[in-house]
Amino acid sequence: MNYKKIPNLFLLIKKLYEDRQLSRVTENFSKNYDYWLALIKNKELQNLMFRLSDDSETARLTARLLDRQDAKELTRMLLARIEESPDRTNYLHKIFRVWKANSNWTLFTQLSNWISNQPEEFYNILEELLIEGELNSSLYRNLQQWGFQLKLDKIRSQSRIRELYLAELFPNINDIKIPIGVIHEESHQANQVDMLYVCAIAAATKATNIFEFGTYRGQTTCGLAAIGEDVRVTTLNLPPEQDPRYAPYIGKLIQESPYRDRIVQIFADSRAFDPSPYAKQMDFIFVDADHSYKGAENDTRKALEMLKPGGTIVWHDYAAKTPGVYEFIRDFSQTRPVFRIWNTCLVVYIDGVDVDRFEPYPMPSSLETVEYTPDRKPLKRS
Ligand SMILES: C[S@@+](CC[C@H](N)C(=O)[O-])C[C@H]1O[C@@H](n2cnc3c(N)ncnc32)[C@H](O)[C@@H]1O
Repeated sequence: MNYKKIPNLFLLIKKLYEDRQLSRVTENFSKNYDYWLALIKNKELQNLMFRLSDDSETARLTARLLDRQDAKELTRMLLARIEESPDRTNYLHKIFRVWKANSNWTLFTQLSNWISNQPEEFYNILEELLIEGELNSSLYRNLQQWGFQLKLDKIRSQSRIRELYLAELFPNINDIKIPIGVIHEESHQANQVDMLYVCAIAAATKATNIFEFGTYRGQTTCGLAAIGEDVRVTTLNLPPEQDPRYAPYIGKLIQESPYRDRIVQIFADSRAFDPSPYAKQMDFIFVDADHSYKGAENDTRKALEMLKPGGTIVWHDYAAKTPGVYEFIRDFSQTRPVFRIWNTCLVVYIDGVDVDRFEPYPMPSSLETVEYTPDRKPLKRS
């Protein structure tokens, strides 16, 4: 842990506080801000925090003492903990999480409320400031992710999107078999099940004519082609010379695939692609190419043109890293509400299915469904 990076966070907060929308900053926030700044300037305390253990009891006590603004008692307690466990690290990170979870009065809660009430442009400013700063610090990453999350929560609340488990949407899903090779293990992303789900949805809906926007290596393409002998997958990607970053990889897995005869590759920019020869022909369309708002909008418009009545469109990367997709789905869902598969970055549109009235298929009960079941509130009417 690099202690020197800590003050950057406070510079950031100070800058936010001083430069932006001062009228919106509550009195309470300002009180916390001054207190927190004073506290954090105390180098001894900073060092103590960082040398402490990843110990939730200490973190809870710290949060309480911070709430009471009892710096003296806090320092005493932290010192005592250090003596007990001199080598442990990661402490501030933990405190940060506990603050977020437990406190209704701390600076971060106030800051959170304040941030969530800012106009869209605020988030761009936040991003710029974070980019200017040192992003390696875990605090920076936390704040950034948290900022994104707040932004996403806001966008999501404006969307007509219903969150369900895959099995609630497709009752036969447990009987579907998909090659495990569809998982992109090297992607380092938490949502590695997504591509298995994409192929499973195509199989569950008995799709035979499939279109994919965005081939990359062709891993999902091959998985889709594997779902049945009568399947045809048409996959579109920029020509390699137009996308040097992806160029060495485009379609590479297709060449070696036993299913390559079921696959047709198109090399074109999707913005210039003419979907009319495929009008109303596709049972299943996977949108995973240009993740900008305009890219998602273009590909979706063309997907709708190619979709057979009753067909399914699935979008990938409904996620913080691709806000264009998030924002596009918000707008798209106003006229065509969509499902999101819980715990994934997948959004699903099924032609002819009324998302509001859809009755989820029952799932076997589990502790997790009781504790983490998504919000079942009816969608807002547009
Ligand atoms: C996220 S990757 C696709 C991943 C793939 N669907 C999979 O599941 O493995 C995005 C791909 O879209 C391509 N792409 C980006 N913009 C595009 C555009 N405007 N038209 C066509 N392809 C595009 C990129 O070259 C890249 O290969």
